[in-house]
Amino acid sequence: MPTATSKLHGRAGELKVIDRQLAEARSGRSSALVIRGETGIGKSTLLAHAEQAAADLSVLRGSGIESETNLPFAGLHLLLRTVLDRVEELPAPHAKALHRAFGACGDAEERGGDRFAVGLAVLALLRELTEAAPVLVVVDDAHWLDRGSAEALLFAARRLPARGVTMLFAARDLYAPPFPAQGIEELRLTGLDPAAAGELLAECADDLPPPRREDVVREARGNPLALIEIAAANREGRQGRQSTEVAPHNRVLHSFAERIAVLPETTRTMILVAAADGTCDTGTVLAAGALLGASLDDLRVAEDAQLLTFTDNCLVFRHPLMRTAAYRTVPMAHRIRAHKALADVLDSPDEVDRKAWHLAAASTGHDEDVAKALESSAEHARARGGYAAVAAAYEQAAALSPLRDDRGRRLSAAARAAADAGQLDHARNLAYQATTQLTDPLELSLAAMIHATLAEDDNNPLEAHYILSRAAERVAEREPELAGRLLFWAAGSASVGDDLPAVERTAELAEKLGVSGTSRIRALATVSGGKVSESIHALRQLVSGETLFTDCVDHPLALRGRTTLASWYSLLGDDAAAGTLAIEVTTDSRAGAAMGVLPKALAVLAKTQLHLGRHKDALASASEGMRIADDIGQQQSRAALAGVLAHLAAIEGKEAEVERLTSEAPAQAAMAARTLLDLGLGRHDAVIDRLDRLGGEFEGLHSLALVPDLVEAAVKARRPELARRQLDRYVTWAEQTGRPWAKAVASRCGALLGEEPLFEEAVRLHLAEQGRPFERARTELLYGEWLRRARRKEQARTQLRSALAIFERLGALPWIERARTELRAAGRPADAGQPATRSTDLERMLTPQELRIARLAAQGLTNRDIGTRMYLSPRTVGYHLYKTYPKLGISSRGELAKLGLAR
Ligand SMILES: Nc1ncnc2c1ncn2[C@@H]1O[C@H](COP(=O)(O)OP(=O)(O)OP(=O)(O)O)[C@@H](O)[C@H]1O
Ligand SMILES: [Mg+2]
Repeated sequence: MPTATSKLHGRAGELKVIDRQLAEARSGRSSALVIRGETGIGKSTLLAHAEQAAADLSVLRGSGIESETNLPFAGLHLLLRTVLDRVEELPAPHAKALHRAFGACGDAEERGGDRFAVGLAVLALLRELTEAAPVLVVVDDAHWLDRGSAEALLFAARRLPARGVTMLFAARDLYAPPFPAQGIEELRLTGLDPAAAGELLAECADDLPPPRREDVVREARGNPLALIEIAAANREGRQGRQSTEVAPHNRVLHSFAERIAVLPETTRTMILVAAADGTCDTGTVLAAGALLGASLDDLRVAEDAQLLTFTDNCLVFRHPLMRTAAYRTVPMAHRIRAHKALADVLDSPDEVDRKAWHLAAASTGHDEDVAKALESSAEHARARGGYAAVAAAYEQAAALSPLRDDRGRRLSAAARAAADAGQLDHARNLAYQATTQLTDPLELSLAAMIHATLAEDDNNPLEAHYILSRAAERVAEREPELAGRLLFWAAGSASVGDDLPAVERTAELAEKLGVSGTSRIRALATVSGGKVSESIHALRQLVSGETLFTDCVDHPLALRGRTTLASWYSLLGDDAAAGTLAIEVTTDSRAGAAMGVLPKALAVLAKTQLHLGRHKDALASASEGMRIADDIGQQQSRAALAGVLAHLAAIEGKEAEVERLTSEAPAQAAMAARTLLDLGLGRHDAVIDRLDRLGGEFEGLHSLALVPDLVEAAVKARRPELARRQLDRYVTWAEQTGRPWAKAVASRCGALLGEEPLFEEAVRLHLAEQGRPFERARTELLYGEWLRRARRKEQARTQLRSALAIFERLGALPWIERARTELRAAGRPADAGQPATRSTDLERMLTPQELRIARLAAQGLTNRDIGTRMYLSPRTVGYHLYKTYPKLGISSRGELAKLGLAR
């Protein structure tokens, strides 16, 4: 096997690529590379030289191991073994994800943790390690990594932190499982050039006569292992001249097979058993070999023939391809015999999983007993969070199941696990197959739900709608309750996909099938229809009823349902309820490492914080959500978060940012942000033009938020008639929600359209609750303007001062300008805003991150708890917290509590 000291021939170009990457890491940049090529071409050798050239970097060295491809996270554990003590320094959810992956969690029943959790934890660990020095990660034989480790490492490789990390993977092309690594740069190794090949041969076979050497170079086509192996075979006179048509790696395989073929039969049996076992467990191999008539002597013969070797008490093939040759070049009946013998001798309770796999490999048809054994092996793998191994075991169990429903159920479990392991396409295929096999209504519904979740995650809500509707039809007669749930979700998916007729059709289907919960499905259709009065009634029905899947066994699905519930509260204008629920969901998602739900929940939370005037909190939530959505590729949530950030930027008058963010946001949110920006900057015609162009499409509950802006712009542009029709809808909505802030805004709009006494009513309503401060300030500004024109300057100043103070606190620059101009016109110097409260003053001094930390610390949370909530290490929390003290003029945590930040 190659070592860092073996002399390297040729490979100048390849070494240059690697040197460049190392240099990048030293200068603080990151990169990843997969080195590919056939067996023996020199991948491991190149990795060894990369390591040698990286003496000044921290090196993490790992490797896929053939016998461990089904052991969840074995590869990752090997790679991280030298830095495991650093795991404790990570934020709790990351540390927990790694502990669970490495089987150190104790509680096998513990749920939660999705396919992103381990990958994100690896990223966090790499970030942490780069603080000391650039990092080189070397993973040899990546094709043999267990799927969990492979997914986690590739996840990290695609999103490497800005600071210097270089990841090098080596993967073999043939005689090995594939190692697809989309999006990662590739370096393909081909044969050494003739000069380098000649040098290598001169070094390893200088006794061969020169004409034979030339033959060897030609035959080996620059493959170093083939050069060495063919030269040896020549020397031993094992073979004559071979055709150069045979590929070098096949040549090597052939040569290994020949070496085995000349050995005695019992020795060949022993070698086959060792190859079939593949775990290096000498005792088991000997016992199984004995069942087939082989003995310890045979192991000795194999060792003398340079095929097997003992290292660290472990029996291994000298070259992995020897194992391939030993296993693949014998008849299937022999292989089955070997696996059966291994299964027969594996009798201890901790060997049940291995036994199950051997039984499976020895099965030739359906076998329920073996399927059951594999099923329990799958559950053992699950306890370690090894979803890929779970999927593989269930899939195999399904293939062996004699009964259709058992097959379907196992396929469905395989689909769920494959999805958790990030094998999304495979998972969808398995889920689809499961639905074709299943007849049991509950199992069929579960399979459809998994299938639908996958479709939704892939930004395809209408496919989810279709899957769920079809499943509901199939189970409706036997399980009307279940069918009702499926159709409720189907309607929700159709509404997310903006297919309103499909929502309506789903409600009709529910009525036709007579499923349970029809009225809730009808309510959803009503909300999607967007008729204000009916919608509010329907929303109330939805939020008061039992929520979609909150009681569901599937934790992430329940979290998703609660996120939807929070967004319904938001549509009802109930920011407090939406906010409380969104905080609960984000906390639970973090605790359970359900990363997939976090961006969605953070989007709802950020929007609520924005409404409540907590802009820095909103910025922090939305930015965190964006980072995770980017990391896990969730386009839809990313767009929603961009919408919130665009809205924030619009309030603050940041034109370029609004431009950039609205190009990524959903249409409605983009429209709202651009409108608000134009309004703040006094571009009333632009507002009117834009909303006028909408014409008949100015419908639906979401569009209501635009109405107050349209009213204000239309009145300022002296075209009030444009806004009257829309106002009626808004007033109805405000009345029906019963929210004081909403009624206040409705009154303000009425006042602008000529019913001036309503201004007073509006201000009174705003003061009745802590509602939406930005809206309150807008009301006060408009009222102040009106009062000034009515020559009631003193009263005008009171309103304007209050408005200015709020705008200042929110950093709403265009609006600050407007309020100041009005104040000057009302006979008051521009800097005369009311003093802000102490806590809001303090809030202005801190960055959004510091503010979040300070708030949580003020509530009495420890650095570790804060870290858990914010996905930071406790040390980073401490660092930010201590930075805030001088800014706040305090010196201890105790004083923090007195500043009024704890809300
Ligand atoms: N450039 C080289 N100069 C000298 N010897 C080399 C060179 N490349 C490879 N070798 C030798 O060839 C043999 C095979 O190389 P290596 O193990 O690196 O191949 P590999 O691509 O990792 O193969 P596998 O896919 O089987 O792991 C080793 O004995 C190694 O020392
Ligand atoms: Mg190798």
